[in-house]
Amino acid sequence: MAVKRHPVAVAIAGDPLSRVPLDTELVERLRGTYEIVRGHDLRLAEVFYARLFSVAPHLRAMFPSDLKAQSAKLIAALDAVVRNFQDPHANIAALSDLGRRHAGYGVKPEHYQIVIDLLIESMREIGGAAIPESRLSEWRSALRLISDQMIAAASTR
Ligand code: HEM
Repeated sequence: MAVKRHPVAVAIAGDPLSRVPLDTELVERLRGTYEIVRGHDLRLAEVFYARLFSVAPHLRAMFPSDLKAQSAKLIAALDAVVRNFQDPHANIAALSDLGRRHAGYGVKPEHYQIVIDLLIESMREIGGAAIPESRLSEWRSALRLISDQMIAAASTR
């Protein structure tokens, strides 16, 4: 089986990873899964925040009161990541800025796992049988890489 590069993994020039071709089939699968969820407008974010504040009510005070606007921002950020899967350098720049801003909001590295878990649960709830577990696992890995890039940038503020 040929080795392929994950769309969220960044290859720096000269890095052996830069010679590994992008996994375009994975890009298509991740996009397809996201489109199913995105067909429900901001629902992913709305379900996610409802779950987050149910399991971790102490985090509510960190967020603005207007959850509609907050939901739109989260979805816009995910839209941009998906749009830029073919351009990981654009993603790393945006995710680094986002990660640095999150450190400013008081977000700690350990907060990311709960966010990943709840985003996946929310995708499962919205997509139902249309999204098999294998596709959710792919999104879990993508969100872990997205989070790792945000966390890495936050430590170099
Ligand atoms: C997949 C990872 C994440 C993404 C894509 C994401 C995305 C966003 C975006 C786009 C915003 C709008 C503000 C901005 O652009 O700076 C935001 C705000 C915020 N995020 Fe995240 N986020 C992620 C993870 C987290 C985690 C782990 C936490 C911890 C609980 C968190 C807490 C917050 C808070 C508190 C705000 C509100 C800041 C404010 O307006 O005062 N986020 N997030």
